[in-house]
Amino acid sequence: ADLKSYEEDLKKAHEAMKVMRETGFIRAHLSKDGEPEKVLFSQTPYVEEGHINSPSSLKRLQELTDHVKGNVDVVVSMGIGGSYLGNKVLFDVQCGAYWNELTKEERNGFPKVYFSGNNIDPRSTGDLIHHLEDESKILQYHEKRNLKVLLLVISKSGGTLDTMSNFMVVYDALQKYPGIDVEVIAVTDPNMEKQTLLKKLAIEKGWPQFAVPDGVGGRFTVFTEVGLTLAACIGFDIKSFLDGAKDMDKACQNDDIWQNPAMLNAALKFAASEKHGRDIEVMMPYGDYLKSVSEWYIQLLAESLGKQFNKEGKEVCYGRTPLVAVGTTDMHSQTQQHQEGKLNKVVQFVKIEKWANDLVIPNTFPEAKKLADISGVTMSEALEVARQSNADALASNKRYNACFALPELNAYHLGELLYMLAMSVAYEGELADVDAFNQPGVESYKRIMGPKLQALKAAKAAK
Ligand code: PA5
Repeated sequence: ADLKSYEEDLKKAHEAMKVMRETGFIRAHLSKDGEPEKVLFSQTPYVEEGHINSPSSLKRLQELTDHVKGNVDVVVSMGIGGSYLGNKVLFDVQCGAYWNELTKEERNGFPKVYFSGNNIDPRSTGDLIHHLEDESKILQYHEKRNLKVLLLVISKSGGTLDTMSNFMVVYDALQKYPGIDVEVIAVTDPNMEKQTLLKKLAIEKGWPQFAVPDGVGGRFTVFTEVGLTLAACIGFDIKSFLDGAKDMDKACQNDDIWQNPAMLNAALKFAASEKHGRDIEVMMPYGDYLKSVSEWYIQLLAESLGKQFNKEGKEVCYGRTPLVAVGTTDMHSQTQQHQEGKLNKVVQFVKIEKWANDLVIPNTFPEAKKLADISGVTMSEALEVARQSNADALASNKRYNACFALPELNAYHLGELLYMLAMSVAYEGELADVDAFNQPGVESYKRIMGPKLQALKAAKAAK
């Protein structure tokens, strides 16, 4: 009944998506200069010359792969928000928790990977520097050569202080360290007229560059060279990832809501929020290495839909509040709230149907009946029973929940999932009449922070 009541609005939203695909612009999106704002993320899965992802850009990414395999021991991916979260997802899904402890052969020649620049934290940044210095000492001892470190600096605006302050600290320290050779790749807005600070530096210093393309906001950039440069450094299957996104995009062109996953998801979440007061969304994938998918989604939802004003400038204060959770871990903490707290949540599960490696729970202690009773069950089966039990318990108490099922956890299905979620917020932006592609709230604090830091520097100089 709810979906029926949205029939007209859904038609309009679907029409807006068609226009977006065909023209690169979405209804009434005006930039700060009053020019129509480009929205190009739906172009990213289609690899064509002249597109954001072209055969020549994929060739350059392959060259990056060849370069890091031959010449780089460690990649540090530096970025924040949209310039970090998608890369962390690709890393976690491809590499898991122990990648950096593997030998280079076990990593198939790929480098170790660390993340930095996603905070201004003196301790973690200091720890990274000391760790790399230690790695360099070990390498000097065993192989009598320098540690080769690639700093992959990612910033669309090219001047985000969190990332850039971190970059300066790490770059300065590593350059001064005798046992480390540093190289830099800049990933930033390629615009030559309005050059970003990072682009200017890259030109001046001769650093290679990749693009954060115009028309793709930070939270949609996992399908661009932002995500794909990191993918190239870890052997992630870029082609399958984009193919998954492409197949999902095709499904999302279906006029029938029941055949269009993004439209259906958006409409159900919108109804839950607007008609039934369920305006908190708990993103709860089942599996440790999927926690970053939840963190990526939190940014996507919060920045796209958390808007004070609608497209006509009327105050609406729209947006579902996103929450990160992981099953089964958070069933022993948050689930109490989900099950009995305010009736204001939708719990969104993600499950993997077939795990690449499964483990059977052995009959280690036959004398302990409770433990013996679960022996012979695989860990993935137990994980799914836990998820289903959570879903059943929630449903039995009028708690909304839903599940995205991935046949397997691989690049193709990850591409499908992330793309569907990106398209879904675009639909919901249309339903709620808010601009899903700007982030004025994030920009507000950035405008305050820069001058504050300058004032701090002046005050310190005057002392
Ligand atoms: O989604 C966004 O646009 C933001 O979260 C940005 O990704 C984040 O602020 C980082 O910006 P930049 O890439 O310009 O350094």
